[in-house]
This record gives sequence, structure tokens and C-alpha cells, in this order.
Amino acid sequence: MRTDTPSDRAGFWTPTAAEARLLLHRAGATPAFVYSRAALRAAVDRVRTASVPGAELYYSLKANPHPGVVTALASLVDGFDVCSTAELETALNAGMPAAKVLFTGPAKSRPEAAAALAAGVAVTVESPGQARLFAEVAELLGVAGRAVVRLNTPYPSRAPGGAPSPNQFGVAAEDLDEVVGVLRGSALTVDGLHLFFGSQYADAAVVDAARRAALERARDVEERFGLRLGMVSVGGGIALPWCDADPEVDWAGLEAAGGEPLPWGGGGRTVVCEYGRSIAGPAGVLLTTVLDVKTVGDRRYVAVDAGVNHLFIAGRLVAGGSRGEPLVRAVGAPQDGAPQDAAQPGDAPERAWVTGPLCSQLDVLAEDVPLPPVAVGDTLVFLGVGAYGPTFSPSGFLSRDQAREIVL
Ligand SMILES: Cc1ncc(COP(=O)(O)O)c(C=O)c1O
Repeated sequence: MRTDTPSDRAGFWTPTAAEARLLLHRAGATPAFVYSRAALRAAVDRVRTASVPGAELYYSLKANPHPGVVTALASLVDGFDVCSTAELETALNAGMPAAKVLFTGPAKSRPEAAAALAAGVAVTVESPGQARLFAEVAELLGVAGRAVVRLNTPYPSRAPGGAPSPNQFGVAAEDLDEVVGVLRGSALTVDGLHLFFGSQYADAAVVDAARRAALERARDVEERFGLRLGMVSVGGGIALPWCDADPEVDWAGLEAAGGEPLPWGGGGRTVVCEYGRSIAGPAGVLLTTVLDVKTVGDRRYVAVDAGVNHLFIAGRLVAGGSRGEPLVRAVGAPQDGAPQDAAQPGDAPERAWVTGPLCSQLDVLAEDVPLPPVAVGDTLVFLGVGAYGPTFSPSGFLSRDQAREIVL
């Protein structure tokens, strides 16, 4: 069982019991995700110091596209990465200039290509077929466009020395000539490269090596094709140590790694780092109400009104048994008098399985976690769940209500 304080460990926004009580009233009902603007700002500051020095920071809306979150971030980051026309609209509505929006994704449809080019945002191009699609659509629309060629990048192992994992994203090395040729013959300019290298990295040496390898490839591609690139996205990759078995991010190592000279950039050429989970994750909590408590065999089950239909990422399918458990704490029932932690002095935490209301054995939010004695009506607060929450969850299962979402 973990004994350290989650907020100390991961920089997660951790409302006090009194604050959580007010949030419950503000939300009106549970389950409710609450996101903190102040915590978003703190997270952006933290990842900036851990990024390539002078890099522009892009926020990936896929982590949390809530309009309030995106609007809060519009003035804190330098650009947005979007992956659908809905995310594109959210990004532009939040006030981000089109010049600072990048439409990513391995396979854009014709309408998506048209929407992106019509809006004037940059687009990633991930295959010869997609290059031809963008060329055709630009001609049809009579517009120019900015292409950012995504290069296929095997994702490094999370620990140094492990084997990289192959993936379907980006242009294969053998297709690069064709892609550049098609784009050069079109109304699009090859403005940049995209070398995303994966997610959930805690090891500074792995992240630094991936960034440097990306910039070396950018320098080589620029030379080989005689290009003048305006931007190179080296991905983000910084982990969210959300489960208790996840290693803490080596923030000091990342900051120190930034001191070394880089193989590409400067002179109006912009390095971009793009992040989702490390920005939105620490800034969100999920409030959920205890609906039932029972013991079956040697297990105490605490059933709550949130399930994997709201927080899929907590489920075994996503988190995986080896990642350990999410960070959860209890506050007293809202009808109690003075706000207080549900745990009373002297109450020893006991092990609990926190389960949801779905009739699926998979609906387990936390397995074997220390929790004080709780009663029906008490509130549990999951910490560090601001990323990959409602929009990453199978919300249609059992046709239950969506979780509320508010921004402080
Ligand atoms: C292209 C791209 N950019 C950014 C992200 C966000 O990554 P993370 O949440 O790990 O920071 C992802 C995640 O899948 C991605 O695929």
C-alpha cells in the first residue's frame, strides 16, 4: 500500500476536503470532473522547463478537449495539436491563431483535409496517398497550405537499452522522396517535420536521446532535399505518473539535458514540443459518490457512481495490472456538518476495491488501495485524472449519464 502523499509525488492538484465539498455543490451532482486553471498553469510551467530550451509548447487536445480547458490553455501555450474537425473548431474558438494549429492524425478524410486547408492550419502528411489527397484538395479549393511531414519513428523503449516498438504513424523512409515530390508539385509548402516518439516516458536520458535523434533527422532531411523548414515537432512524451507503480518523471534530468547544444533550430527555425497528459493530467480530479459498501470474502468493495464508462483509463484494460493503482482519497458525505476528511483521527486505512456501477467485471477503478472507512454518501476524489478521461471512455455502455465537467 502506498504511504506517500500523492500531491507531493506527482504535482497533482489536490483539493482539500473543504474545497472538495464546495466543488460538489458547484458541480451539482456526481460523477464530476473538475479541472483547475491554476493547476494547468503550474503544469505548463513545469513542462516548459523540461522541454527543449526555446521550444514552442503545443497542447494536444486529445488529452482533454473541454472548451474551458482549451480556452484556459490558449494563453499559456504557443499552439495546439488537433486531430479532428471538432477539435479544430474548439482550438480556433479558444482564440488560437490558425498559424499555430497543427492538424495531426495518420489518415485524414477528404472533408477533414478540406476543413484544415480552408481554415489555414498546418497539416501533418503521413503517406504518399495522403500527400496526393492534400495536393488534390488544395487545388480544388484554390488555396495554398502548410505541410508538416510526419516521419515514421519507432517508439523507444521506456527504459534505456530496450527495443523500440514499430508503429503505423508517419511516412516510411522509402516513401519520403515520393511524398516530398508530390508536395513540391502542389500548392502546399513543406514547412516542417513531425517526429513524435511516443508517450509515458519518465527517463530523461530516453527523452533527450529521442529529441536529439529527431533534430538530427530533421537536419539530414533538410540537407538531402534542400528544404528550409520552419518548424520541427520533436513530440513530447513526458509521462503522467498516475498509477502508484509508475516511476516519477526525472524533471531535474530533463531540465539539465536542455543545456547541451542541439543539432537543429535557431535562426527563425522553431522546435515544437507537444504534450497532452503532462499538461492536463495533473490539473483534474474526479468526484464520485459512494453508493454501496460491502465485504465479499476478504475484499472490501466500495461501489461508486463513476465507472470505466467515465474513466476508462483506470480500468485494467488500459492501466494494466503492473501499473498499480490510481491515487484516490476520501472526503466526508456532503450532508455532514463541518467539512472533514472521511477518515477520522485513529481510523487506519484499510484495503478497498473501488468499483463502478456497470455490470462488468472490468468496472474496477482502483484495486486493493488504502482507504479509510467510508459510508454510502461519502465522496471519493480521484487525483491526476485531467487527461484521457471522458473522451477516452466507452461512454455509451449501458446508456448511463455522462460525467459533469467544470473548470475552476
Ligand atoms: C501525435 C501526438 N501528439 C501528442 C500526443 C499527446 O501525448 P501525451 O499525452 O503523451 O503527451 C499524442 C498522443 O497519443 C500523439 O499521438
